[in-house]
Amino acid sequence: MNIFREITSEGTLFKDERVFRPDYVPAELLFREKHISEIARSVRPAAHGKQPQNLLLYGPSGTGKTSCARFVLRELSEYSQRAQPIYLNCWEYSSRHMVLHALLEGIGMMAPKRGLSSNEIMEKVVGGLRQSGKIPILVLDEVDRLFAASSEEQKVLYDLGRMPEIHGLQIGLVGITNNRDVLVRADARTKSSLMQGEIEFSKYSPQELKGILSERAKLGYCDGALEKEVVPLCAAISAKNGGDARVALALLWKAGLEADGKGAKKVLVEHVKAVQEKCIQEAKTLGIRKEEELAEMERRIVKIIAAEGGSIESGELYEQLGAAMGEERAVRLHIAKMVKSGVLEEKETNDKGRKKRILGIRGPK
Ligand SMILES: Nc1ncnc2c1ncn2[C@@H]1O[C@H](COP(=O)(O)OP(=O)(O)OP(=O)(O)O)[C@@H](O)[C@H]1O
Ligand SMILES: [Mg+2]
Repeated sequence: MNIFREITSEGTLFKDERVFRPDYVPAELLFREKHISEIARSVRPAAHGKQPQNLLLYGPSGTGKTSCARFVLRELSEYSQRAQPIYLNCWEYSSRHMVLHALLEGIGMMAPKRGLSSNEIMEKVVGGLRQSGKIPILVLDEVDRLFAASSEEQKVLYDLGRMPEIHGLQIGLVGITNNRDVLVRADARTKSSLMQGEIEFSKYSPQELKGILSERAKLGYCDGALEKEVVPLCAAISAKNGGDARVALALLWKAGLEADGKGAKKVLVEHVKAVQEKCIQEAKTLGIRKEEELAEMERRIVKIIAAEGGSIESGELYEQLGAAMGEERAVRLHIAKMVKSGVLEEKETNDKGRKKRILGIRGPK
């Protein structure tokens, strides 16, 4: 037999592996009907030329916040020409300038990435909306990122929230976060732009995870490819690790790859066990971006500075944190947040003409 035919016909237990990829949005989101209809009810006025209600979706990782928001946007774009759904993840669009620029593009207007000030972009957005009569529904996923940097960045929420009042234009804002506290601590004007309505997403129960996995298995695996204990085991492991559907799906997916790799006829419990640690670890690495891990980062930063006698040069701190902290930009934003909240203080010194930034632990006043 041709070597390629052999690989494609016999090499896999998957029917369609794409359904396990992170960007896949299922046609149906189980156990979230109420959440979806609440979001839909809030944004629906946009389809009829009216002001939507702004919303905050919050809850732990892997509870379906992003999927539900994307699902509603997809339905909305089929239902209405008037509403203009726009999805942004604030990890990618982390400044006021970037958010406004993406909004401008989202309403179909082109603008150079550089050269225009945020205020000028805002003017163009206003002009564009007046002309088109469209009402954007702007989903800002991981919106707490806008609070990690300077207060300038979060001002975008205030700018957008006031559009109806100042310009007589409608816009719907949907913020998504794991960390509702960041918004609760925000100033009243920012808060009022985003927290007109709130929807909580709670962890999935083992039973719910089992349901989600069974549905996905039907789409992704050939009939009879899974030993019957596999789905309950994946559900039980992920229920213990935060009730996170992302972990559950990763287990189910990676176990299949493991089985394929071993040339097995079925996905077995042993395949799940073989990938368990790695899947949980990966979810944690992703979660480095999330609040618990951020708190962990703060502890680590404070520990390093304390070991240096209470202050350290910024470059040296980055070096000591090393790869463990991931992207340097994220570290910088995080340190800026700690300086702002008063945990650290920052001084500039001049060492033979070379400027140095010294970070210190702030002592009691
Ligand atoms: N109710 C559901 N039915 C089917 N699949 C789901 C459901 N909820 C979540 N999923 C799946 O779980 C994964 C994680 O969901 P999602 O990205 O929406 O979580 P999230 O709440 O946004 O998490 P995070 O806070 O980490 O961003 C996705 O792959 C999604 O397809
Ligand atoms: Mg999400």
